[in-house]
Amino acid sequence: MFDQVTEAPPDAILGLNEAFLQDKRDQKVNLTVGVYRDEAGRTPILECVKAAEERLLEREATKAYLGIAGMPDYHLATAGLLFGTGSAVIEEGRWVAAQTPGGTGALRVAGEWLRRNELCQRIWCSRPTWANHHNVFHAAGLDVETYAYLDETGTALDRDRFLDALRKIPSGDAVCLHGCCHNPTGVDPDGETWQAIAAMAREQGWLPLIDFAYQGFARGIDEDARAVRAFADAGIEFLVASSYSKNFGLYAERTGALTIVAREAGVVPAVGSRLKQVIRANYSNPPKHGAAIVAMILSDETLRTHWEEEVGQMRERISRLRSALVEGLQREGVSRDVSYLLRQRGMFSYSGLSPLQVDRLRSEFGIYLVRSGRINMAGLNADNLSYVCRAMAQVMS
Ligand SMILES: Cc1ncc(COP(=O)(O)O)c(C=O)c1O
Repeated sequence: MFDQVTEAPPDAILGLNEAFLQDKRDQKVNLTVGVYRDEAGRTPILECVKAAEERLLEREATKAYLGIAGMPDYHLATAGLLFGTGSAVIEEGRWVAAQTPGGTGALRVAGEWLRRNELCQRIWCSRPTWANHHNVFHAAGLDVETYAYLDETGTALDRDRFLDALRKIPSGDAVCLHGCCHNPTGVDPDGETWQAIAAMAREQGWLPLIDFAYQGFARGIDEDARAVRAFADAGIEFLVASSYSKNFGLYAERTGALTIVAREAGVVPAVGSRLKQVIRANYSNPPKHGAAIVAMILSDETLRTHWEEEVGQMRERISRLRSALVEGLQREGVSRDVSYLLRQRGMFSYSGLSPLQVDRLRSEFGIYLVRSGRINMAGLNADNLSYVCRAMAQVMS
């Protein structure tokens, strides 16, 4: 029977990684990966995470299953990050959350919850979007459509076209929006545009699903929640898929959350019960370790302060690399305006390089990036920056 199974197409980014590992050149550079890297090219464990793990090792008394939705402390910590302390959503009890295996798990549970309760049949994603969005939403049984996002340079938002596209989305459809640090482009709407989008969601009656995988990587923990808070202030129903893979460095611990915001507290018990039904049929109950770390850090003043410092260090490193890349390109004689790299936010950037230029970087210089031109800024460091700038300038000239 198994001989009927045909091979699945290879994952484009993983394939590039394999090619990178096999490349024998000394000066090769990997800018494809989807994880944060420090100056030494490592993906470190945050110090606050290590400290929390030491306490957990001492205090944890059981590995018994968690409840289907996970730990209430973790839900509350997540709500605090999303809405801010004292927010009306929290005060009025208009939310319910579930601890999920990563942000991907949150997106999948969200999709299945929407589908199973016949709330939506279709979800709209930006063009382009994180490659796995299409996969996950299709797997949840939703139809996926796309809306316009970038201008013709492919490096900045086309605000009018984007808002026009959102205006045409029918009432009752879901719309996936990146809360900050849009992956793969790094292009985010500004605060005023988020207000306009939230007002539009209220008027048009479509349902926002905010994918929030990089809180703290753009401007700051609270500043980055402005999209989420614009929807909260609009008093509408919406969903948020949080991931703590990047901002706590907990990638392999699969730590995420799905938060559903209602218009009235009265519907929350039914909403929560249907959420548990989806989870029970999927992975039964969530993994514990990463969520226990996040809950501990966010509820302890010293650990939280330390975490905010460490997220700040990652954010500032990326921002310094953006400036250094722009300066380096100019120094190498690139005359075209590359200041869009400074306006983009988060780990990823649409560099504006064409697929052919990306191919040349790989074949002539051993510099690997995704063919769309997406760069992981965190893959740059003092050792490889000048080399990358020189190579980019050559293929851009
Ligand atoms: C936009 C976006 N959403 C969701 C995720 C998934 O995060 P996780 O690894 O927590 O499942 C990622 C991870 O790269 C992402 O970039």
